[in-house]
Amino acid sequence: LAGPAGGADLAGLHVLVSAGGTREPIDAVRFVGNRSSGKMGYALAARAAARGATVTVVAANVALPDPPGATVVRVGTAEDLRRACGDAFGSADVLLMAAAVADFRPVDPAGGKIKKAGRTELTIELEPTVDVLTELSGRRRDGQTLVGFAAEHGDGALDYARDKRERKRLDAVVLNDVAVPGIAFDAADNAVTIVTGDGEQTVARAAKEAVADAILDAVVAARARA
Ligand code: CTP
Ligand code: CA
Repeated sequence: LAGPAGGADLAGLHVLVSAGGTREPIDAVRFVGNRSSGKMGYALAARAAARGATVTVVAANVALPDPPGATVVRVGTAEDLRRACGDAFGSADVLLMAAAVADFRPVDPAGGKIKKAGRTELTIELEPTVDVLTELSGRRRDGQTLVGFAAEHGDGALDYARDKRERKRLDAVVLNDVAVPGIAFDAADNAVTIVTGDGEQTVARAAKEAVADAILDAVVAARARA
């Protein structure tokens, strides 16, 4: 795969990618997690590096080989991810927020292992996490390009993605319709709609590397417009 400009069209840019899915402890051995594998984030990181960018990946629980050419920072929870992204964001030109960040976490994780003996039910109280993307968007400076990802299910997906772009004040939202079989979570392929202020562009089902290139093309176009 070559970049559309046939080479290093991202040279000189620092691209920060978040990837994978956070895990929020319930007790010493259990967590609240999600189905994100990190494949889309790692494909973005690898393609951005191949196109000449300096790449930092904040990887939440990703069990994949490091993307070639990228610096990987490993994190576990949403709060870890928040800290690591916050540290790297200041020097980033582009943020690609592909990680599935938990929206809620257990309020009071048990220090040991919760035992089932003597229980007929177990209630785990959850509290909201900080929305990292919204927080970073709130401190963005001129010249930074912010891309969010939205995993939506079925009807209304596009409207939710448009709304997310405006609410979080992003340059683009990459919409994944997780109701479509064979794409998204843990699959090698993806198919997305890239929502920008200029309208929408659909990227037909393809390998995540090819979808990553289309997303990076949209970033280049957004930066040219800005
Ligand atoms: N996100 C984040 N921090 C969170 C939750 C989400 O940075 N605590 C980011 C994700 O990385 C993604 C974007 O926000 O880039 C959209 O995430 P999504 O889960 O689709 O939207 P939410 O705003 O969390 O709303 P909901 O899950 O209710 O659809
Ligand atoms: Ca969410």
